[in-house]
Amino acid sequence: MLDIRIEKTTAPKQKPSADQPLGFGKIFTDHMFVMNYTEGQGWHDARIVPFSNISLSPAAMVYHYGQEMFEGLKAYKGADGKSYLFRPDMNAKRTNATNDRLVIPQIPVEDFVQAVKAVVKVDEDWIPTAPGTSLYVRPFIIATDEFLGVAPSKTYLFIIILSPSGAYYASGLKPVGIWIEDEYVRAVKGGMGFAKTGGNYAASLIAQVKAHDEGFSQVLWLDGVERKYIEEVGAMNIFFKINGTIVTPELSGSILPGITRDSVLNLCRNWGLPVEERKVSVDELLAAQADGSLEEVFGTGTAAVISPVGKLRYKDDIMTIADGDIGEISQKLYDTVTGIQLGKLDDPFGWRVCID
Ligand code: PLP
Ligand code: COI
Repeated sequence: MLDIRIEKTTAPKQKPSADQPLGFGKIFTDHMFVMNYTEGQGWHDARIVPFSNISLSPAAMVYHYGQEMFEGLKAYKGADGKSYLFRPDMNAKRTNATNDRLVIPQIPVEDFVQAVKAVVKVDEDWIPTAPGTSLYVRPFIIATDEFLGVAPSKTYLFIIILSPSGAYYASGLKPVGIWIEDEYVRAVKGGMGFAKTGGNYAASLIAQVKAHDEGFSQVLWLDGVERKYIEEVGAMNIFFKINGTIVTPELSGSILPGITRDSVLNLCRNWGLPVEERKVSVDELLAAQADGSLEEVFGTGTAAVISPVGKLRYKDDIMTIADGDIGEISQKLYDTVTGIQLGKLDDPFGWRVCID
């Protein structure tokens, strides 16, 4: 259990108005959570302080060798006026999986969840309530030793910032166009693909720029060895409905184990749909498209929730999915996941966590 000191701001910022378009990750609340790690002492000095710039030595290790991690989850205002999180323990566990890979010290799951709850509680009036909006929660850890040698840092900062946000894609629930990348790769097994760390996203930028230039909103990565099997999208896992079966790439070590992915798999199995986690090749998708059995494609992620895919490009082939409309399962999953998150639907799996 953390002992969290709270220092409230004396200069609260103007909150966005109810009808203001928020965008994603552009506006920040009044406070942030901060905690230090020092070798020999462990995590210490947990505090909630006014949101502000941080000051680090230009030699801080994070700037040079990228020893850092981040997470993403959301807080919502329920129909009962209380504030809720969605499966925050999963983010805590994934933090520790990432930390293991990056040789960052572990944070006890209950401390991570306590810190998220505490900072959201302080800024709960910032949780937006317009349809499709939420308070995006961004925990992250950075290596802070002033040292240019390549080694794990002995000091770290764990920070949580909060951003009232709308849909991740400007198009909202409108199907997006996705570029299957055949030149660059994001990750390979044994690398960091399963970890949520900045380097994976830095590696993705060049293909994202290429895809944007061609009029596509995101990149779909192929495996780094054969460039044959589907991995995941830049900020989402990917699902296909092929001839009635829900198919998603298996967790191979090079893709992020998405919490929304896990929730969608649970829901589909609960609805009695046939579900497969396995290798999916681009050739299989092209064949399914050709014979009409590729019925739906959608991405899953905290920021994007469920994002229908209307168009997939691979080399010279453009596949139009479900006539470019949102598919039936994609819509049902969006309604169910957001319904549980907002407390409009029952929560049979116990995913919603109330911030008391
Ligand atoms: N894959 C990548 C690369 C991501 O950045 C994300 C977003 O967090 C996801 C998948 C989806 O994960 P989650 O559903 O836990 O948000
Ligand atoms: C999330 O969905 O929480 C993410 O972290 C995606 C992000 C890279 C914007």
